[in-house]
Amino acid sequence: MIKLLKYLNAKECLFLFITLAFLVVQVWCNITIPDYTLKISEYLSMPDISLYWQDIVWTCVQMLFFVAGVLISSFLAQLLASIVVSGLLARIRSKIFEKVNSFSSTEINKFSIPSLITRSTNDITQLQQVYTTTLTLGLTAPLTAIFAIIKIVGLSRDYGAGNLSLVNVVSVLLLVIVITIIILLALPKFKKIQTGTDKLNMVTRENLTGLKVVRAVGAEKEQEEKFEKVNSKFAKLEFFVDKVLMLIDPSLSFVMQGTSLAIVWIVGLLAGQNPQLLLVLSAFTQYSVFIIMSFTFLSMLFMFVPRGIVSAKRINEILKTEIVLKDGNNSFDKKEQGTIEFKNVSFKYPDADEKVLENISFSIKQGQTVAFIGSTGSGKSTLINLIPRFYDCFEGEVLVDGVNVKDYTQHDLHNLIGYVPQKGVLFSGSIESNLKYGKENATDEEIKNVINISQSNFVYDLPDGLHYKVSQGGKNVSGGQKQRLSIARAIIKDPEILIFDDSFSALDYKTDKTVRKNLNKAYKDTTKVIVAQRIGTIMNADQIIVLDQGKMVGIGKHKQLLKTCQIYKEIALSQFSEEELSK
Ligand SMILES: Nc1ncnc2c1ncn2[C@@H]1O[C@H](COP(=O)(O)OP(=O)(O)OP(=O)(O)O)[C@@H](O)[C@H]1O
Ligand SMILES: [Mg+2]
Repeated sequence: MIKLLKYLNAKECLFLFITLAFLVVQVWCNITIPDYTLKISEYLSMPDISLYWQDIVWTCVQMLFFVAGVLISSFLAQLLASIVVSGLLARIRSKIFEKVNSFSSTEINKFSIPSLITRSTNDITQLQQVYTTTLTLGLTAPLTAIFAIIKIVGLSRDYGAGNLSLVNVVSVLLLVIVITIIILLALPKFKKIQTGTDKLNMVTRENLTGLKVVRAVGAEKEQEEKFEKVNSKFAKLEFFVDKVLMLIDPSLSFVMQGTSLAIVWIVGLLAGQNPQLLLVLSAFTQYSVFIIMSFTFLSMLFMFVPRGIVSAKRINEILKTEIVLKDGNNSFDKKEQGTIEFKNVSFKYPDADEKVLENISFSIKQGQTVAFIGSTGSGKSTLINLIPRFYDCFEGEVLVDGVNVKDYTQHDLHNLIGYVPQKGVLFSGSIESNLKYGKENATDEEIKNVINISQSNFVYDLPDGLHYKVSQGGKNVSGGQKQRLSIARAIIKDPEILIFDDSFSALDYKTDKTVRKNLNKAYKDTTKVIVAQRIGTIMNADQIIVLDQGKMVGIGKHKQLLKTCQIYKEIALSQFSEEELSK
């Protein structure tokens, strides 16, 4: 929790000190009030009160002044504390967002998306509460306790009330014991509650994203059971912690009332020998309440703080994660343009035992169109993900323009490449803003051009055309439309290399053909890497690479592969007849 304070800015640090000053004023005013109660008691005990009316009123006014002092300073302290804490946490949230943005799939998989969401929302809220409470109570509780103890010791000495102090010792001891038990019971559950929130989040998210499929396959009951299992476990944990925390209130009332009773009782017993004790009764009770309250707040802090520490740790884990993919230092002279080379590349996913790609070598010249084909799961997406360095290869080297991808900064490398993922992804905003993700300052002419090339002319028929509002995740755009817009977004920056991961599969045959024709015409010198399932999409490629279970089992042109590569021939025959192929 302390470590995260390094994100405070100068203004917040200043506010923090002012908050602390207001808190000291608050405690001082608070602790001074009983002095005036005592004074009033003394006046009231005088034989002829009427002589002291003016003094009594004046004392009351002074007391009210301190009461106002408590109210104002505590209001200002709370206000400043919340400004400091909300500012700090907004900054931490941005830091988390930035950091997560720099994560590769490896780091994201390490945390899991639901956990990243809980950490940047729920944990932050948790921390916000803890910081505010700690900041205010952490100072006022011990200060009040110390002042109240000093006052009580003074009163006992001045009025001969030594036995009364003992009451406080006993009540504080009692309170500390009860609250320690409560803390020991509740503490271990806090971490479990946070991980429980992660799990709830995960199940809810999975269910919501797959809602249609859940309904279509009639898996509502299974999903409900899955949710109920996590939910009831979470509810049990929360219930347990609530039950335990519920004990605080009655214990506090019991000890407080018991203390007041004990004080009255002892004063009653001793007043015969020492009538002065009656004067200090109310001041003494007030100080005792201060002490008990302070100890209760302190004990509650002991309970809150570990909760905050759990959340702070979970946040710190994100902020301190070492990024696996480190940027290169760009210190090279590029001699080539638009070339790709794989040298004995092998790859396995982090945490997996099996290699997904094995000993892959090939090279692609500028302007060539190279296609990858192979059955589902043969490693096509994995292979092309190594070009923009979404992952680092496990063995071997991947070169772009003759330079190892690890030597580029990721920003520079990604600038060379236009990548269209297997599943089209759009962001909330307008169609235009989505296309401008590809090139920030794209002109109207450029936008029109890429819409034409990617056969995305449908956008002009949408309400508001280019300004059509795309909802989150592009839900209000069809799969094929999303795919075409993803192509438009990738080509708008006119990259050296274009990568299409099965990007034509959602297009009908005619559009597929037209888009490819347009691309070949408009981006003649651009190197194109295409993953496809349809032989028709790739048969004219300069080079076709056939993958099977992560290994290269064929490389060459269509006609050549039909003769030399059995797997390619089988794929081709599953889509065309012998006659069609021999044409
Ligand atoms: N993030 C991941 N973590 C672990 N294993 C993965 C991951 N992604 C893919 N795999 C595994 O790697 C293998 C290759 O997957 P890949 O996505 O590259 O196949 P593909 O050829 O693109 O298949 P498809 O034609 O279905 O898109 C599969 O066996 C898959 O289970
Ligand atoms: Mg794939």
